[in-house]
Amino acid sequence: TAVSGGGNVLLPGLVDLHVHLREPGREDAETIASGSAAAAAGGFTAVFAMPNTDPVADTALVCDHVWRRGREVGLVDVHPVGAVTVGQKGERLAEMGIMAAGEAQVRVFSDDGFCVSDPLVMRRALEYASGLGALIAQHAEDPRLTCGACAHEGPTAARLGLAGWPRSAEESIIARDAILARDADARVHICHVSTAGSVSVLRWAKEQGIAITAEVTPHHLLLDDSRLEDYDPVFKVNPPLREESDVAVLRRALAEGVIDAVATDHAPHAAHDKDREFALARPGMLGLETALPIVLETMWRPGLLDWRGVARTMSENPAKIAGLADQGRPIEVGEPANLVVVDPDFEWTVRGKELTSIADNTPFEGMRLRGRAVATVLRGRVTARDGRAEL
Ligand code: DOR
Ligand code: ZN
Ligand code: ZN
Repeated sequence: TAVSGGGNVLLPGLVDLHVHLREPGREDAETIASGSAAAAAGGFTAVFAMPNTDPVADTALVCDHVWRRGREVGLVDVHPVGAVTVGQKGERLAEMGIMAAGEAQVRVFSDDGFCVSDPLVMRRALEYASGLGALIAQHAEDPRLTCGACAHEGPTAARLGLAGWPRSAEESIIARDAILARDADARVHICHVSTAGSVSVLRWAKEQGIAITAEVTPHHLLLDDSRLEDYDPVFKVNPPLREESDVAVLRRALAEGVIDAVATDHAPHAAHDKDREFALARPGMLGLETALPIVLETMWRPGLLDWRGVARTMSENPAKIAGLADQGRPIEVGEPANLVVVDPDFEWTVRGKELTSIADNTPFEGMRLRGRAVATVLRGRVTARDGRAEL
């Protein structure tokens, strides 16, 4: 179990399977430079940038641009996630093979922001990706069940008069995709799992030997829909914050390995997109600079994960899921290392305005957190010290 006062801890550099860096297209919310700096500050040495940019990352041209820009900035390895379908419209498969053969060597594909909801398109995507040795990461949401909803369907949303997103919209897609992956002999990865029922489905699928993996966000490990009481749009996110009982099950599932990894779903938004009426505000919240202390608070301090577990869920497993050979493992003597030095006792107060990200939509505003990356090292070079990137 957790002990404090034990000094700093060395971990392999953290790996985030799921971030939105907004470049190209929405550089007023985040850029590859600002997002890389936020990642390094948070202890990350590799991130996977989702393709819901403008233009959508559905070609090697866009993916290679993101990869090269990440290299130029040099603070964290930015791996572009390619779109599964052209324009993320869910109809025609994008040329995953050409993206995989490009400079960025794209190995993870997702239509995140949207769900690949047509089962035939998903089946063909799984077969195509499997042939490439690539992974489909699914934003599990049946849009016919959510239809514009902006909050978890339950007593809180009913009382507040907010349209509800039922758990079934997520759980039915996970069950379907597990079975499609089994038949396609493919791997599938489930993004941001948010319900207790999803955990049951994942447990069942893993018991069947299906090659399914899943991630959970720090915000779903800490927050529930009681936060919506004041209609504060900073708590609006897809999938929505669920109920206390779901949060408890998610924590246990991460501890037991039914959920494999923590991923932030870092989703910066410009103030004019976020500070609006709840129903109109964009969904999503910042995650990169607060992920580590939130995981320590929800998982390590209660004894649900020891340090090995933190390393496994925030570095080793995400690196394995995405097929990164140079991340998520102990350092060999003499190699240019990817690592992070963590001070678990460092106390700080979250202020959106003081975070490195351009946007300031943190759901943890004003919260006192314990734990920080004292130093982040990418291939032997210090990329951040004391929560600030080395620019
Ligand atoms: O809350 C979310 N924000 N969920 C998504 O699926 C997309 C993301 C975004 O791009 O802002
Ligand atoms: Zn998503
Ligand atoms: Zn996302």
